[in-house]
Amino acid sequence: MSRALYPGSFDPLHNGHLDIIRRGSLLFERLTVAVLDNPLKNAKLLDTAERVALLQEATAGLENVLVDTFSGLLVTYAERAGANVILKSLRNATDFEYETQMAHLNRGLYPDAETLFLLAAPEWSFVSSTRVRELASLGADVSGLVPPATLRMLTKKSG
Ligand code: PNS
Repeated sequence: MSRALYPGSFDPLHNGHLDIIRRGSLLFERLTVAVLDNPLKNAKLLDTAERVALLQEATAGLENVLVDTFSGLLVTYAERAGANVILKSLRNATDFEYETQMAHLNRGLYPDAETLFLLAAPEWSFVSSTRVRELASLGADVSGLVPPATLRMLTKKSG
């Protein structure tokens, strides 16, 4: 049985993340979206509970998708969760450099899990949480970049 983890900060969840979750849910029997809950990597906008709530609402229709949190090493969590796949997304060459380094390190630490990459869909290849946060904080309309739950949260935060 293939159990995959899709880890990230999701601060906040955007349409590129959701596209990977939907596509991943078709590839694996179970996909756990693992939200980093790490005091050393402070959330820039949303706390852990808010990030989890957005993911839960946006993935409610996907029966084999679970949302969970983790802290510490990803591979420790993967081992505990019995996951044999770490799912990541690649938007561009910058992601490739960063993600290959992490994949090699994670493989060295926990060889039982393979990191698999999905190419971001072209329409989301320029979307990042950093840009969504910046645009929203400056009053730009980000409704085309994020799911409704995130849009509501951004509106609430700016209000
Ligand atoms: O959405 P992000 O911020 O790009 O996600 C990064 C994340 C959470 C996947 C990465 O920071 C991570 O795995 N952190 C857990 C700590 C860890 O295992 N570090 C060693 C990686 S080689």
